[in-house]
Amino acid sequence: MLPMNQNPRSVSELEITGLVGSLRVASSCRIVMDTMVDLLDDQARLRVPDIRSVPPFDQDLEESAIPPVVSDLKDAVRSSDAVLIVTPEYNWGIPGHLKNVLDWVSRPFPEGPFHGRAIGVVSAAAHPGTGDHVRARLSETMGVLGRAYPETLSVPSVESQSLDGRIVDPATRHELQEWLNGFLAWARASED
Ligand SMILES: Cc1cc2nc3c(=O)[nH]c(=O)nc-3n(C[C@H](O)[C@H](O)[C@H](O)COP(=O)(O)O)c2cc1C
Repeated sequence: MLPMNQNPRSVSELEITGLVGSLRVASSCRIVMDTMVDLLDDQARLRVPDIRSVPPFDQDLEESAIPPVVSDLKDAVRSSDAVLIVTPEYNWGIPGHLKNVLDWVSRPFPEGPFHGRAIGVVSAAAHPGTGDHVRARLSETMGVLGRAYPETLSVPSVESQSLDGRIVDPATRHELQEWLNGFLAWARASED
């Protein structure tokens, strides 16, 4: 299995797979995701697989010997109720490695692992920056693959509001909590 954030909860909760679009150790997206893991408390179980070793998508490899890291990731998404993506904006678009992971997990289209999953899209940046472009592009892609939550969230200036790997600014924590509440309610209400 892929390494996951260990955060044991009861079985009746929503299961969410989290995908972080930056591989940087001090990533602001990682800080936002880890803060969300804490904020979800007993409302949902959010597990964040390590996607670092996912290879470039190769249809020959997919047909001959799908890498275990990819099949584990596909199983994780398939057994989740929802997917939460926190990503930076790179060159007005989706970071290449994240897009590569989405391409692997999208298969077989249209009934791949994302099919029927509620998908939340969040952008984050260490410094001021809206992430408007990446959220628009990602929402479009994820709306084709699954059920994209129409309300996306932008979390700028993460560096100045965090300590020890978590957002500490009360107003931003409140904003994250409110967005999560809306996403979970929507995910539950819109289940197939
Ligand atoms: C290759 C690259 C391209 C970037 N392009 C944009 C961009 O188009 N728009 C933007 O607002 N920020 C852009 N940035 C800034 C990142 O969004 C910012 O550094 C962010 O904090 C990176 O996420 P992380 O902190 O999770 O690693 C870019 C950064 C990199 C490394």
